Amino acid sequence: MAGAKYVCRIGKTKPVFLISSLKNQFTCHTRKDVFCTHLRGITTTPFPEFQGDPQLKSHADLYNASLQNPDYFWGTLAKSRLQWFQKFNQVKDCDINKGHIRWFMDGKLNASVNCVDRYAKKTGDAIALIWEKDEPGTEEYVTYRQLSQMVNKMANMLKSSGVGRGDRVAIYLPTSPVAVAAMMACARIGAIHSVVFAGFSSDALAGRIIDADAETVITADEGVRGGKLIPLKQTVDAAVAQCPCVKRVFVYQRTGNDVPMNKLDISLDKEMACQSDVCDPEEMGSEDLLFMLYTSGSTGKPKGIAHSTAGYLLYAGITQKHVFDYQEGERFGCVADIGWITGHTYVVYGPLSNGATTVLFESTPTYPDPGRYWEMVQRLKLNQIYLAPTSLRLLLKEGNEWVTKYDRSSLRKLGCVGEPLNSEAYDWYNDVIGDGKCEVVDTWWQTETGGIAIAPRPSAKGAKIVAAKPMRPHFGIQPALMDKDGKELTGSNVQGALCIKSVWPGMARTIYGDHKRFLDTYYNPYPGYYFSGDGAHRCEEGYYQITGRMDDVMNVSGHRIGTAEVEDAMDNHAQVAETAVVGYPHDVKGEGIYAFVVPMGDVDPEEADALKAELKLMVKTVIGSFAQPDKILFTPGLPKTRSGKIMRRILRKVADNKPDELGDISTLVDPSVVEILVQRHSEEFKV
Ligand code: WT7
Repeated sequence: MAGAKYVCRIGKTKPVFLISSLKNQFTCHTRKDVFCTHLRGITTTPFPEFQGDPQLKSHADLYNASLQNPDYFWGTLAKSRLQWFQKFNQVKDCDINKGHIRWFMDGKLNASVNCVDRYAKKTGDAIALIWEKDEPGTEEYVTYRQLSQMVNKMANMLKSSGVGRGDRVAIYLPTSPVAVAAMMACARIGAIHSVVFAGFSSDALAGRIIDADAETVITADEGVRGGKLIPLKQTVDAAVAQCPCVKRVFVYQRTGNDVPMNKLDISLDKEMACQSDVCDPEEMGSEDLLFMLYTSGSTGKPKGIAHSTAGYLLYAGITQKHVFDYQEGERFGCVADIGWITGHTYVVYGPLSNGATTVLFESTPTYPDPGRYWEMVQRLKLNQIYLAPTSLRLLLKEGNEWVTKYDRSSLRKLGCVGEPLNSEAYDWYNDVIGDGKCEVVDTWWQTETGGIAIAPRPSAKGAKIVAAKPMRPHFGIQPALMDKDGKELTGSNVQGALCIKSVWPGMARTIYGDHKRFLDTYYNPYPGYYFSGDGAHRCEEGYYQITGRMDDVMNVSGHRIGTAEVEDAMDNHAQVAETAVVGYPHDVKGEGIYAFVVPMGDVDPEEADALKAELKLMVKTVIGSFAQPDKILFTPGLPKTRSGKIMRRILRKVADNKPDELGDISTLVDPSVVEILVQRHSEEFKV
C-alpha cells in the first residue's frame, strides 16, 4: 500500500514507539492499555454510490449524512445494494420514542434472491461456502450455483409439506451448507427461521419451539465437533415429545449413523433429492420478518429477537463489507456457529449478500490442536478472520509456535466480538497473529442491533486503531451514555449506560409474540433512546469502550446467559431451597458462573460433590452444558435486604475474592451471613 506508515511497539510494560514515517501528525498514547498501532489504510472503503457527490468525500461526511440525512444515505444504498421486485416508496417510518421502527416501506424483495440467485446467475462458479468440517483437510466447497440448487430444492421440500409464508421453522443443525440452505430456503418461501444453537438441551429447544409455535423442525442425525459425535436427533426427539405444535421433523444425514426415525420424521436427504431445483421466490415486504433468534434476558424466558427482511439484510451487507474491507474474491472466515447472531450476520447473510466466499467452521479452536485456526488460515488462504476474545485467551496460553509455524500472510483484517477484548489478547492478536500487519477490529454489537454498531473501521483516513476498544460508531449509529438519573452525559471521560439515539436499518423490530416486553426492555428505560443493557466509557478522544452488562446477564465465552435461567434450573432440585448466580472474572471465559446454593438442611460433606454434580447436570438438562456453573458454594443463607432482594453486588465481590470491597452491608437483614460466605468461599476455593 502506497505511503504506508507503521508504528511498532517494543517493550511490554513501557510502550515505546518507532515511527517509520512522520508525515502526518498524530498523538501517541503511552497509557498501559492504550497505544497506537500501524496506521496503514484505516480508511473508509469507498462507497461507489457516493463517489460523484462532492458533499460526501470524507468519512466524517458519510457518517454525518448517515445521521442527518438517513433517507438519502440508506435510501441510496438500499437501492444499489439490494435487488428489489418492487422499489420502496419511503425510506423510513420510525419513532424511537415508541420503539416503532420501519424501513423501506412498500418495497418487495426476497433475501434468498439477494444472497444466492443474483450471484448464481452472475458468477455461478464462484465459491459461496467453504465448509471447514471438523477434521482438518476435509473441507468442501459449494459454489453459488450449487447453493442455489440446494436452496430451491429445500424450499420446494418445505413448500410441498405445507410450510408457507409467515410459518416458523426451527433449525437445530450443525454449521454446514445444509444449515445455510435451510435458512435461505425459509427466506425463499417467506417462512421465519428460528435457528437454535445445537448445543442447547432438549428442554431449551422445546421452550423455543413452543414459544415460536413452530410446526417444522430441521435437524441432523448427529453433529461432529472436536472429534466427538453429538446426538442431535436424540435431543430433538426429547424436545419434540414436549411440543404438541410440531408436525414434521426433517432429518439430515450428517454422519449417516443409524438413528431411530419416528412418526413425524422425514429424511431430508431423500426428500430433497426428488424435488425440482426451481422454486419461485416469494415477494416479501421489506418489514416481513426474516428470522427470529432467541437470546437471554435478565429475567423470564429467552426473548425471540425478530429481524426484518430489507433493513437487516442491508445492514448485514454494508457492515460485512466496510468494517472488514471485504474485496471481491476474498475469503471471509467468521468462525462463529450459525446458532448465534454472529453466525447469522457474518457467516450467512452479510457475506452472501455481498457475493463473498464465506467459511462454515464446524470444529473447535483446539481440535486437533491449538494451531487449528492458523492451519486453516494457511490451507484456505483466508483474508479475514472473525472470532471471540475467549478463544484468543485460550490459545495464547499455548504459545506462539502454534501460530508461527503456519503462513498467515493472506490475512488482512482481524476481527473479534462478543466480550471485552483485554489488552493481552489484543497484543497477541495484533503482534503475533497479524505480525503487526493487519488491523484488529474489536466490534461491539448485539443480537438486537442486527450487525456491528461500534468498530474501529471504517474510519477517517489516517485515523488510528487504539488497542482493545470498539472505538467508533458505525454509519447510522449515534451512541449516548446515560447517567443514573436518565440524563445524557456529554463530553469526554464519562461512563454510563450505553444507548443509541439514532435509528438504523438493522435494528430488531420486536420480541416475537411480546412487543410489550420489547418496549419495556429496550425503549422504556430511557425514553427516546434504544438501551443496550451494556455500560460504556467514552475516553478523551471520544472513543467507546464497553465496560460490561449492567443487568443480570452474564457473558460466558461470548455467550449471553441470564443468571435467572441458571438459578431456575438449579432451584428445581429437591434438595435446593434457593440459589443466586453471579458472574466472576475468568481468565479464559471472560466470565465464569458462580452459584451460591442454599440447600434444604445441611449437606453432608461426603455428599457435597455428588450434589454439585447433580446441580450441574440439571443446568445441562435445562439449558445446555455451556451454562454449567464453574463454581458452586453451599451456604446457609444469602445476603438479602429487608424487602427480600438478594444483594448480588456482595456476592460478586465474594466470588471475585474481594472481601475488602464489600461496602455497606448494614441494610442486610442478616449481615452475619456475609462473613460465612467469605469464609466458606476462601476454604472451598483456597484463596
Ligand atoms: C453482548 C451481546 C454480537 C455478537 C456476539 C454476542 C457483549 C459484544 C462486545 C465487544 C465488549 C461485547 C455485550 C453485548 N459484547 N461485543 N466488542 N466488547 N462486549 O451477541 O449474544 O447478542 O451479546 O455481548 O455485552 O450486549 P449477543
